[in-house]
Amino acid sequence: MKTTDLRGKRALITGGTKGIGKAIADELAEAGATVIVSARIQPETASHYFIAADLTIPADVARLTNEIKEQFNGIDILINNVGGLTTPGGGFNTLTDDHWEQELQLNLLSAIRLDKALLPQMIEQGSGVIIHISSVAGKQALWNLNLAYAVSKAALNAYSKALATELAGKGVRVLTVAPGATKTAPMLGFIESYASSVNISVDEAMKQLMAQTGGIPMGRMAEPEEVASLVHFLVSPSAAYLTGSIYAIDGGSLPVVS
Ligand SMILES: NC(=O)c1ccc[n+]([C@@H]2O[C@H](COP(=O)([O-])OP(=O)(O)OC[C@H]3O[C@@H](n4cnc5c(N)ncnc54)[C@H](OP(=O)(O)O)[C@@H]3O)[C@@H](O)[C@H]2O)c1
Repeated sequence: MKTTDLRGKRALITGGTKGIGKAIADELAEAGATVIVSARIQPETASHYFIAADLTIPADVARLTNEIKEQFNGIDILINNVGGLTTPGGGFNTLTDDHWEQELQLNLLSAIRLDKALLPQMIEQGSGVIIHISSVAGKQALWNLNLAYAVSKAALNAYSKALATELAGKGVRVLTVAPGATKTAPMLGFIESYASSVNISVDEAMKQLMAQTGGIPMGRMAEPEEVASLVHFLVSPSAAYLTGSIYAIDGGSLPVVS
């Protein structure tokens, strides 16, 4: 069916209170979906049904999925958006076992745990869509800036592809979206802290960081709403034949055919 109308669909967006996750939540609600968002802290002004959960804690994931089953009898769309770069740059010798564990919990295991908890209901109803929000870092790791983060996103890409293959015959589609630099608070904070650490302007820091990845041919970062627009299409009936693929949305920054 050729439509991006999401009326009648129940969608959970993890980390749906800020940045890319909030833009996705707003976009899917605008398209008619019943939207549920989760995060650790409830925003002061709630625009969507909110469930507090730290997805690195298994008991929180169990509580989140129980509330969804009780209140909504399951979901149709799951956006695994929680993630981020939380460990220092500096290469292999800077990173401790705890850093690696922390990055894998946040960017990989949180999604694996939540998928496992919610998939039985999707399989039983014979339909569903799961999106994993990855990063171009998963295809282009920078040893001095984001090593553990990039590795955790690369693992997420591999997991997402295998899960898609396993579920393709059961009516559940699984896709990966890999944004490049996107204008959210953590990305802007990262650029500002790099600028002050080497005593240059934020604009110059932005140019230097982008140059390390080969630059952004379109010359600017993505807006969160642009990522949301891609996700909206991918979860919609118009994308019914898409599964197992990874979509970079990066203004052309990945320098290789992928
Ligand atoms: N921004 C970029 O340039 C960029 C580029 C490539 C990929 N990405 C990916 O896009 C996703 C979103 O990034 P963003 O920049 O939009 O981040 P953001 O603005 O910091 O938003 C992160 C969201 O996740 C929630 N969250 C963080 N840790 C959590 C946890 N342990 N358990 C539950 N919720 C948690 C936050 O709320 P609380 O703090 O209240 O928990 C917030 O709602 C991430 O997977 C990131 O890796 C971002």
